[in-house]
Amino acid sequence: MQILLQPPRDERHAWLAALAGALPDAAISLWPDAPATPDYALVWKPPADLFARARPAKAIFNLGAGVEVLLAIPALPDGVPVIRLEDAGMAAQMGEYVTLAVLRAYRELDAYAAQQRAGRWQPRPPIAKPAFGVGILGFGVLGRAVADALAPFGFPLRAWSLSRQRSPGVESFVGRAELGSFLAATQALVCLLPSTRETRGLLDRAAFAALPRGAHVVNVARGDIVVDEDLIAALDCGHLAGATLDVFRTEPLPSGHPFWHHPQVTLTPHVSAVTLIEDAVLQVAGKIRRLERGEPVTGIVDRARGY
Ligand SMILES: NC(=O)c1ccc[n+]([C@@H]2O[C@H](COP(=O)([O-])OP(=O)(O)OC[C@H]3O[C@@H](n4cnc5c(N)ncnc54)[C@H](OP(=O)(O)O)[C@@H]3O)[C@@H](O)[C@H]2O)c1
Repeated sequence: MQILLQPPRDERHAWLAALAGALPDAAISLWPDAPATPDYALVWKPPADLFARARPAKAIFNLGAGVEVLLAIPALPDGVPVIRLEDAGMAAQMGEYVTLAVLRAYRELDAYAAQQRAGRWQPRPPIAKPAFGVGILGFGVLGRAVADALAPFGFPLRAWSLSRQRSPGVESFVGRAELGSFLAATQALVCLLPSTRETRGLLDRAAFAALPRGAHVVNVARGDIVVDEDLIAALDCGHLAGATLDVFRTEPLPSGHPFWHHPQVTLTPHVSAVTLIEDAVLQVAGKIRRLERGEPVTGIVDRARGY
């Protein structure tokens, strides 16, 4: 079995060692070495010429959960399944990160930090929990993990997706028709949507206006789902209380971008849920073994839907 491996550049040797350990009988080529027709390719943001040089025969594995960069490559071969990572150690990380951001907003720690800087001792009235709805945009592998992580805290949980979801304790909203009522009672909005034709630019002026005054936005999905100027305007006019942002339209975030020094923005450099090499390799190797036995696998991307 021939495998082409094109992992993030600075992690090449760790990926190679892990994959060789998991699939000892495979012949692994580390990009830019590339067999013309490998059985499988494992790629991360591949260069445009990768699929001109190598045409994987059986499957292409994306070494992350989001596939928008891969699907945008014109030379991506048709008729070969594209398979993404499902959880692979990311769900627990996402649960931690979002719980931290939601609790920080609910307990108003940013307001207390401002009071501390001003030397002001001023208890704030507690926020009634039933009034603090947490809305999760995207209720897939990671959205569900976030709902599970938040469940013990007792916030009203709501989720927005394309298809109706049945999950105890989570109110389901579907499609554009129900987006307005989803947003209207969402005090903390968590974005875990894929970046697709349908979702890019979704969080714009109108969406922010539909949130209640004082809401907080957490974007841990992709930067292009948010319209940056509209978010800044909604923060500046006092409609939104704050934003926690892990992902950006351009990464690294350019040094002059207003998010860097905005007093109501907390940002991190795309670290909310990173790909863990050992977990990812175990998942991919398990799926390769299943495919070799002619068995079905999960995580196949629907190219028409874009996720
Ligand atoms: N910041 C980070 O470090 C990091 C790490 C990993 C992943 N991510 C991002 O997180 C995203 C989600 O990952 P995942 O594994 O949870 O994906 P997933 O399992 O594919 O879930 C996607 C969810 O979004 C919903 N959805 C898609 N398009 C929609 C639309 N137009 N309207 C309403 N709902 C829509 C889907 O609805 P249905 O359930 O009806 O299909 C599904 O619930 C990834 O695509 C990636 O961009 C970020």
